[in-house]
Amino acid sequence: MRRAVCPGSFDPVTLGHLDIVERASKIYDEVTVAVLVNKKKSSLFTVEERMALLAEVTEVYGNVKVDSFHGLLVDYCRERDIPVIVKGLRAISDFDYELQMAQMNHGLAGVETMFMTTNPLYSFLSSSLVKEVATYGGDVSGLVPERVLASLTERLASP
Ligand code: PNS
Repeated sequence: MRRAVCPGSFDPVTLGHLDIVERASKIYDEVTVAVLVNKKKSSLFTVEERMALLAEVTEVYGNVKVDSFHGLLVDYCRERDIPVIVKGLRAISDFDYELQMAQMNHGLAGVETMFMTTNPLYSFLSSSLVKEVATYGGDVSGLVPERVLASLTERLASP
């Protein structure tokens, strides 16, 4: 079975993330979306809330699982026999850091990283920008799944 992981913070999942997960689900037999548990970073949604939203919006794909991890991503991959990390590359600005991580992950554990070029519709998109725009009342429909928009609106109304 060909397995891959799509790791990230997903606070919250955007249509850019979903585009990568959907495309990965067509290439690999099983794709795990793995949410990083990062106690040092404050987040709008808890890990459980992010996982629940991810589970809802990826349900249609059939071969996508949602999980969380802490510590090194390569340890998570090793323990579950996942040989490939799939990442979206939005712009050249993503490249330096992504290259460093990919080379480190390969050096540490031989885990490969496959980069997909982001759909140009979403090349400017990030969870941070979505939260900032939504916080000040900007329209982020069309940037996040409808289900996420509802949670975002609710959370920002009563943080
Ligand atoms: O959505 P993000 O926050 O950009 O995702 C970053 C993520 C989770 C993919 C990256 O920070 C990561 O893999 N963290 C796990 C810790 C780890 O393995 N660090 C070494 C990277 S070489």
